[in-house]
Amino acid sequence: MLHPSAIIETKHIGQGTKVWANTHICQGAKIGKNCTIGENVYIGKNVIIGDECKIQNGALIYEGVEIGNYVFIGPAVCTTNDFCPTLKELDWAHRFKKTIIEDYASIGANSTIICGIKIARGSMIGAGSVLTRSTIENGVYYGNPARQKK
Ligand SMILES: CC(C)(COP(=O)(O)OP(=O)(O)OC[C@H]1O[C@@H](n2cnc3c(N)ncnc32)[C@H](O)[C@@H]1OP(=O)(O)O)[C@@H](O)C(=O)NCCC(=O)NCCS
Repeated sequence: MLHPSAIIETKHIGQGTKVWANTHICQGAKIGKNCTIGENVYIGKNVIIGDECKIQNGALIYEGVEIGNYVFIGPAVCTTNDFCPTLKELDWAHRFKKTIIEDYASIGANSTIICGIKIARGSMIGAGSVLTRSTIENGVYYGNPARQKK
């Protein structure tokens, strides 16, 4: 089910995936099967999202992010792709860094993910975190800056 108010510029949306109101999915994005993409979500150019993921309302998934399968992205999660943004350089897109979010990771509401890191399989990022470093498998991290708690 693709809500009529969603702006969908890609043809690559897997079977059974639902996209709710006012969400924008940009060109070249690839979304797998049976995902739920909530309201007011932004999914940038060439973003990859696997199967069975849940992306909650208001999440911002920018170009350069790759998400595996069974990943939970909480409401208002903000990813990034430019580590040190400045408009002094005209050609800023070359600065984009990748962020990888592996299978079964969960990111709590309103967290910010600094680009260039890997969130390993099964990691849990607590609500309101600012994650600046890669995580270990199944690690629990929270705070600003987020630190490993378990
Ligand atoms: C991180 C989380 C999974 C719990 O982890 P936990 O280690 O079991 O946490 P606990 O409840 O045992 O709390 C341990 C301590 O960390 C603090 N804490 C827990 N989550 C925190 C967070 N996200 N940020 C800062 N501190 C946090 C607790 O207040 C507690 O502090 P205290 O010892 O001074 O009382 C949970 O708090 C969380 O953030 N869940 C995400 C919720 C969410 O965003 N859901 C998506 C939308 S529905």
